This record gives sequence, structure tokens and C-alpha cells, in this order.
Amino acid sequence: MSSEAAATRPRVLSGITATGKLHIGNYIGALSVWAREQDRFENYFFIADLHALTIPENIQPDALRERVTEIVALYVACGLDVDKSVLFLQSRVPAHASLAWIFNCVTPIGWLERMTQYKSKSDRANPSAGLLTYPSLMAADILLYQPDFVPVGDDQRQHIELTRNIAQRFNSMFGEAFSIPEPMIRTSGARIMGLDDPNVKMSKSLAESRDGHAVGLLDPPNKIRKTIMRSVTDSGTEVRGDGLGAGVENLLVLHEALTDTTREDSLAEFEGKGYGVLKKALAEVVIEHVSAIQERYNEIRADRSYLDRILAEGAEKAANIADETARNAMRLTGLL
Ligand code: AMP
Ligand code: TRP
Repeated sequence: MSSEAAATRPRVLSGITATGKLHIGNYIGALSVWAREQDRFENYFFIADLHALTIPENIQPDALRERVTEIVALYVACGLDVDKSVLFLQSRVPAHASLAWIFNCVTPIGWLERMTQYKSKSDRANPSAGLLTYPSLMAADILLYQPDFVPVGDDQRQHIELTRNIAQRFNSMFGEAFSIPEPMIRTSGARIMGLDDPNVKMSKSLAESRDGHAVGLLDPPNKIRKTIMRSVTDSGTEVRGDGLGAGVENLLVLHEALTDTTREDSLAEFEGKGYGVLKKALAEVVIEHVSAIQERYNEIRADRSYLDRILAEGAEKAANIADETARNAMRLTGLL
């Protein structure tokens, strides 16, 4: 793609935190959307390793390094194409940390304390300052690249809203430095629920402690089959279009997202059939998707130097844009 063609396209930027194993919710809510829409946008995707430090009790240095390599390999395996998308590691572009500091200084603490993700994670003893300021680093991640859209799952909606507020506050205090991005959130599939409990969001952290919670992108087929066949539904026995329980709803959403079909299609296929039929069909669809990803993953995961090269080239391209934005913010605040 010529840079001229890319420059005329709207820009997207997004990232995934380097904690825990990526699951089918990450794939449907984020990765599959990034990959599918690559030709429409100028694309920047990164791995948020700085955000992986916000719960210091969980920091395992060797595991973090491994995780980063795993995620970049999964990015490529899920279809991100290095000729179309800049892939990079957050910590390799120092402007993220330096702009985050400036944002920490213009963001009222109350804005950060209101974040539901902070509230749900800060009930531990001694939450770190980094856990509280997580969203101002995220605002820096985004605003450095002046993206038009930020493709994320539904759980990140509030963080994007905060990012917009931080941009507006900075702009009004110091002068127009940042464009205001829009979230890009799919209408169905943006909030995949836990397979062991359809009332909670499928998450990497719950997947770590609960076996049947999520389908991991690197899970073997027999494990996937088991997780889906055992998934929690309700006391009913067959799929009925009226009054779907949360568990069956979640299974239908998963099936529709992976087969690119509508609710009408899936009711035509499954209405009146037992939950077991739906689960079996879903398991096969998930296995088919995930196996294709794993096949590509296994080819590239071993090639460490290829993956390192992707991140080195990505950091250079990302820094070209990020450094200019950061310098402008430094000039406007008197640091330059
Ligand atoms: P995280 O796992 O929190 O780093 O999330 C990475 C990306 O996946 C973000 O865009 C999230 O919004 C998205 N995501 C995480 N969990 C889910 C889920 N259960 N359903 C849909 N999208 C999700
Ligand atoms: N907070 C996001 C998550 O947990 C990850 C993230 C960090 C992100 N910085 C970002 C997503 C910037 C989009 C844009 O999912």
C-alpha cells in the first residue's frame, strides 16, 4: 500500500493488555474487527505492556516477556498484516509514558475514581497509583496517534469517553493539540459473557482461576469442546426465540459472530432444538476458527527474530507519529 493511499484513509488505533491468555471474547470484540477492516483504515495496533504492570503483585517478568511474543504472534495469526497495519509494543515508544504524565497532571482524580474498571479492581489491598491512572495512560496511547476511531469491546466505552474528556480539557487549557476520537464498537458480540456464568463478562483474569470460564485462542479442540458443552444455560431445554436466557443468548451471539449471520438466521437454524444441538454446532464453529488461527500461530511463534523485527519496525513507524504529537504537547505546556 502506498503511503499516499493510506494517508487518505481514516486512522484506527487499538491495543490489548499483555496480561493473561487471549480468549474468544478478545477475538470477537477486538481482533477480528481489526483484521476484517484493515483495508478501510490506516491501522495502528499495539500490545499494552505498561498497562500490564498496574497490579504489581501479578508482575512476573519472564512470563510478561513470553506473553508479549505470544500476543504479537497471535496478532499476525488472527490476520493482522504487517503491510497494512503497524504492530508495536507500547513501552518501546517512550512518548506513551511521557504524554501520560502530562495527562496525569491535567486529569482530576475524581474522573479516574469514577471508572468502573478501577472500582472493580481496586477492592484489593493497596491498589497501586498506576491502577488509578491506567486510563490517562490509555488516553495517551490513543491521542498520540490522532485516530478517527478506536475499535474496542463494550467494556472500554467508558475509558474512551474519558479519553475524549481529557483531550477536550487539554485542548481548552493549552490549545488545540488533539483530535477527538470515536469508539468503534460492534453492535452484537462486543460483550461476550463467561461460559461458566453468563452474568459476568468473559475476562482474562477470571479465565486464569476458573477452568470453564473462557475459550482461549490457544486451547486444544478437546478442551474447547468440553468448555462449550458444559457451558451454563438455564433450566429450559430447547432454544425458544421469546425470552432467551443470558446463557443461550451468549451462545447464539458467539455463533452469529463467528459465522457472520443474524439472529433471524440462527433462530431459523436452532429454534425448537435442544441446547445440546446449539452447543455442538457452536463447538465445531469455534474449533474451526481457532484451529486456523493456531495453525498460523504455530508457524510463526517459533521464529523469534521475525517477531522481534515486526516490533522493531513497528516501534519506528509508531514513534514517527507519536513523537510529533508529544513534542507539540510539550511545547504547549512549556516543557519545550
Ligand atoms: P483486555 O482483555 O481487557 O486487554 O481487552 C482487549 C480487547 O478485547 C478490548 O478491546 C476489550 O474491549 C475486548 N474484550 C475483552 N473482553 C471482551 C469480551 N468479553 N467481549 C468482547 N470484547 C472483549
Ligand atoms: N484498556 C484496554 C483493555 O483492557 C487496553 C488498552 C490500553 C487500549 N490502551 C489502549 C485499548 C488504547 C484501546 C486503545 O482492553
